[in-house]
Amino acid sequence: DTIDTTNREKYRPIYHHTPIYGWMNDPNGMVYKDGVWHLCYQWNPYGSKWQNLSWGQSTSRDLIHWDHQLNPAVEPDGLGMIFSGSSAIDTANSAGFGKDAIVTMYTSAGTSQIQSLAWSDDNGATYNKYPGNPVITLESEARDPNMFWNDETKLWTLVLAHALDHEMLIFTSPDMKEWTLKSAFGKGLGSQDGVWECPDLFELPVEGSDESKWVLLCNINPGGPFGGSATQYFIGDFDGTTFAPDRDASGNVPTKWMDYGKDHYATVSFSNAPDNRRTVIGWMSNWQYAAEVPTMQFRSANTLPREVGLFKGNDGQIYASSAPSPELLSLRGKAVTDVKSIKAGTKARNYNLPSVNDGACEIVMDIEPGRTSDVTLTLSNHKGEKVMMAYNPVEETMSFDRRESGVTDFSQDFPAVTVSPTFGKDSRLSLRIFIDRSSIEVFGNDGRFVMTNLVFPTTPYTTLSLSADNGKAKINNLKIYTIK
Ligand code: FRU
Repeated sequence: DTIDTTNREKYRPIYHHTPIYGWMNDPNGMVYKDGVWHLCYQWNPYGSKWQNLSWGQSTSRDLIHWDHQLNPAVEPDGLGMIFSGSSAIDTANSAGFGKDAIVTMYTSAGTSQIQSLAWSDDNGATYNKYPGNPVITLESEARDPNMFWNDETKLWTLVLAHALDHEMLIFTSPDMKEWTLKSAFGKGLGSQDGVWECPDLFELPVEGSDESKWVLLCNINPGGPFGGSATQYFIGDFDGTTFAPDRDASGNVPTKWMDYGKDHYATVSFSNAPDNRRTVIGWMSNWQYAAEVPTMQFRSANTLPREVGLFKGNDGQIYASSAPSPELLSLRGKAVTDVKSIKAGTKARNYNLPSVNDGACEIVMDIEPGRTSDVTLTLSNHKGEKVMMAYNPVEETMSFDRRESGVTDFSQDFPAVTVSPTFGKDSRLSLRIFIDRSSIEVFGNDGRFVMTNLVFPTTPYTTLSLSADNGKAKINNLKIYTIK
């Protein structure tokens, strides 16, 4: 019982995950099992605004094409609505729900926010609620439990957002039912401007070294760098009970951002992913205007899947990169533009975007700025609607301007310019830009920076223009691919 969600209205993405109908926010309970990626999500199957929260569920074998379950996987009950949470595979049957059961912990949101368990012993086809719910109750709001098996301590480990207290609580358990609070992280650190939500905690190797580090994802709303929702993260060490953040030379804990666009939130990773992959997906919207965006039949899509890695920046700090997942290469169709090398100066060079799929495409290029200042990439249509992206090699930043991108007046917070550090090794910049019907994701330098922004052109963008100020920039390996 699946349904095809493509081609039903002009803003519905053709290669991003969307709910078949109704409202969607955070991705939930993402887990990989036996070749299948399970993506649950905050879903209101009855309307286009945030209400009646249950978990919807989609599954995929390639992270790109999703089959949609028509009925909610987990529905509200006497304990409340079903807020965000995570899933893990219980290989050793430590909870007693069955060997290899998918065990899920979510927040029951009624008069308070308490944590509950559900499980599936039929690969996600049905979920059963644990009769002993709730398993964690605290005095103040806590939500979005994220649990994983820690092979070092041989314990289940849980990170829970103590939302209004701006901290993450860490618990351990032998059986996922009895939890012991071990530590709290974050008081006074990072951005404290909004509530702390949707945590995740995982370990990754640092590129080019023997070192590994832990990453604590901490979604916050509001308080993002461009207003509203965003994903901050901390790098540090985790000894099984306490997270100790890295500090900079002056002893401060730096605030780091996973994405420098306005539409990337509630990002967490799949558990049990193969090949030591740390694959993440975020909700591609912002609480500032999520309920106002001009889509029909559905509200909100998810970001493309991304692979998290760690690298050392030029300042000696360790940062998280988010590269497009390898599966995305299979979307590449024909290269409608394939140019080895050109020079771009003040007079713009123009390239057509493919008209198939209304301009949905992937654009790839390497920029050698030489002595130029801004190198500008403009996407435009015949109505004069445009998105301007500018690389400034002196400042080592890239900006994304959607103020004239099309329909922008549904919220005063929508027209915006977002800016990202480029984290380059030198002044060269490589880009992969994914355009879908109502979103643009810019991946720079193999995911060392990402900018995710929604756009609502009244008619698709048709042209890419390249120009540069103060001399000529070299643009190499420029390719514009259709989407298969
Ligand atoms: C984040 C969030 C979570 C909560 C869910 C409710 O976007 O506020 O903290 O569990 O959405 O839908």
